This record gives sequence, C-alpha cells and structure tokens, in this order.
Amino acid sequence: MPDVAPLLSIQNLVTRFKSVERGKWITAVDDVSISLAPGEMVGLVGESGCGKSTLGRSIVGLEKPQSGSVIYDGVDLSTLSGRALRQKRRAIQYVFQDPYASLNDRQTIGETIAEALIIIGINDKAEHARLIHTLLDQVGLPASLAERYPRELSGGQRQRVAIARSLAVEPRVLICDEPVSALDLSIRAQVMNLFLKLHKELNVACLFIAHDLALVRQATSRTYVMYLGRIIEEGRSDELYARPSHPYTQALLASIPSADPRIEANRPPPSIFGEIPSPTNPPSGCRFRTRCPQAMEICAATPPEAVRLTPSHSARCVIAGDIYQKNKAADHVEPVPA
Ligand SMILES: Nc1ncnc2c1ncn2[C@@H]1O[C@H](COP(=O)(O)OP(=O)(O)OP(=O)(O)O)[C@@H](O)[C@H]1O
Ligand SMILES: [Mg+2]
Repeated sequence: MPDVAPLLSIQNLVTRFKSVERGKWITAVDDVSISLAPGEMVGLVGESGCGKSTLGRSIVGLEKPQSGSVIYDGVDLSTLSGRALRQKRRAIQYVFQDPYASLNDRQTIGETIAEALIIIGINDKAEHARLIHTLLDQVGLPASLAERYPRELSGGQRQRVAIARSLAVEPRVLICDEPVSALDLSIRAQVMNLFLKLHKELNVACLFIAHDLALVRQATSRTYVMYLGRIIEEGRSDELYARPSHPYTQALLASIPSADPRIEANRPPPSIFGEIPSPTNPPSGCRFRTRCPQAMEICAATPPEAVRLTPSHSARCVIAGDIYQKNKAADHVEPVPA
C-alpha cells in the first residue's frame, strides 16, 4: 500500500472470460487488490498471459469485472452511471501498447486531439489550436504535425500523439500497457523518458505494465508481480528488487540479462521451467507450484496468504520469510574479488 491515501484503489477484482473450450472459463484476474497514490509511478510485471492487460482494461471499464471494486478518489465507480461515471472515468486514461492500432487513420493528429478536447467541453477553435500546440510540445512533437495523418508518422511519434491525446483530458491516472514494447529499441528509452518527465511535471499517477523488469525497476517506486491472474509479490521497488522473496519473482529477475559480462558468465541456469499452466484449469493452492523449484506438499492445499516481510514488502509464498532472511544474510556477504 502507498504511504498516503490512495487515489485509485482496486479491491478484490475478478474478471472472467468464456474460454474457446466449451463450458470453460478463464479467470484472467483473480481477486486482485492494488492501489496507486496521487502522482505515484507503480509497475505491474509478469509473463505473457498472466492478466496484466485484463486488469488494466477492467480498471478503465474496457472489460466488465465479475466482482470487486474500482475506487477512484474515494468513490466506488460501480455506484455511478451515465455522466457522473464518464466524468470520473475520464481521469483514468489508458495508453495502449500498439500506437498503430490506437489512432484513427482517417483523422489528422490535430483532429484526434481536438476530439479529446471536445469531450471535456472545450469547443472553441482558437483554443483548440492553442492547446493542440501545447500538448504536442509537451510530448516533444512539432506543432506542424497537427496537419499530418497517423500513417505519415513513425511508431515513436504515434505513441507520443497517443500520449498527447490522453493528456488532453487532464487525467490523474495513466494505465500504460507496455507503451514502449512495440517501439524500436532505439526509441524506447526516449519515449520512456517522456513518460517519466510527464509523470513528474504533471504529477500524474501511472500504472506501468511491462515485461521488461529492468525498465520497471528504474522507473517505479513500487512494483506488483502477477502470476496467472494473481498478485504474488508487491512492495517498494528498491526492496523488492534487492530481496525478491517469491520464487517466481526470483526467477523473473534471474532472467534479466546483465550488461556486465562477468555477471552474465556466472549466471545460474534459469530456475523457472515449463510452460504457464492453462488458465482454464489453474493448479490448486499456489498457482506457481507446478513450476516452482521449491514446491512442497502444502503448496497444493490452499492459496498462500501474503507474508509481510517489511511494512512495505510482502509475498504470497509459504517460505517467503525464509527466502527474505536468506536474501538479507546474502546482503552482508563480501563479494568475491574478480
Ligand atoms: N477477450 C478475451 N476473451 C477470452 N480470453 C481472453 C480475452 N482477453 C484475454 N483473455 C485471456 O486472459 C488471460 C490474460 O490475458 P491478458 O491479455 O490480460 O494477459 P497479459 O498479461 O496482458 O499478456 P501480455 O503480456 O501477452 O500482453 C489470457 O489467458 C488470455 O488468453
Ligand atoms: Mg497485455
């Protein structure tokens, strides 16, 4: 939990889909609770298919959760409807992974942004021109781009336009769903830096969804780790990355390549093995147990409770406390000289 009252609080959210296998259901988000403080940058990581996008989409109303609540600014959004709901929802904007799919190819960039401005009641043409200029400038694009069409832009430029469009409605929360992973490697860092700059300047809270743990580690103050629909570890990013205490998080971190060739040469073999189990038939108890190198009989019995490791770090694993203590002991071991 953040230290101050959350701006956005998701409580016990469950989102299910009908599977293509007849009569089966996929519980893509299973009893998830997360929160964001005002202006906070929080990471959400996990393998492909673990439910990150479904969680993000459920928060903004693109999917309909079966149960649980989305509480924004102290109001449970399920108690609102019509205009009041739209107004609150507007404060939470979604930035999609694919900048090619998220813009209307028949509208100029200026028209796309103007459409967002009209939504918040700004109809004056001169005001549109001024704000379009300001927004494009904010995302590092020249004003001349307003006359162009999405197909004339590069992937990085399109993602900047998508961000400008989101900002047009003055959001307080951005759900950023892998917003840089579809971009060329060379421009990822630039767009990532833009997110960090905007987040600081505008004090917008961000839920930053990513595969790339290295990216999240640097950019966020807290991180949630998701596995097969559930949050299995959460905490302050500095603590969680220094002392990952769920075997799944440890395995994810072990798979990050290092720039240091000595570390790469000594990298242990990956401890995560096998495929993610089918979400239509998840393992009983701890969902990671079928791939966990440390699984015991008890892990099949019941889903593990969250073990609080510090006031700002917890993990759902029966041996999380032991793993944490081992991590802590290892902190004090002098590194072997090279
Ligand atoms: N509209 C849908 N209908 C049926 N199943 C769906 C639907 N959307 C998602 N799923 C399933 O829900 C699970 C979670 O998918 P989701 O897209 O949320 O994962 P993700 O963590 O965002 O993955 P990625 O990292 O690949 O984007 C997957 O098993 C997926 O197949
Ligand atoms: Mg996704």
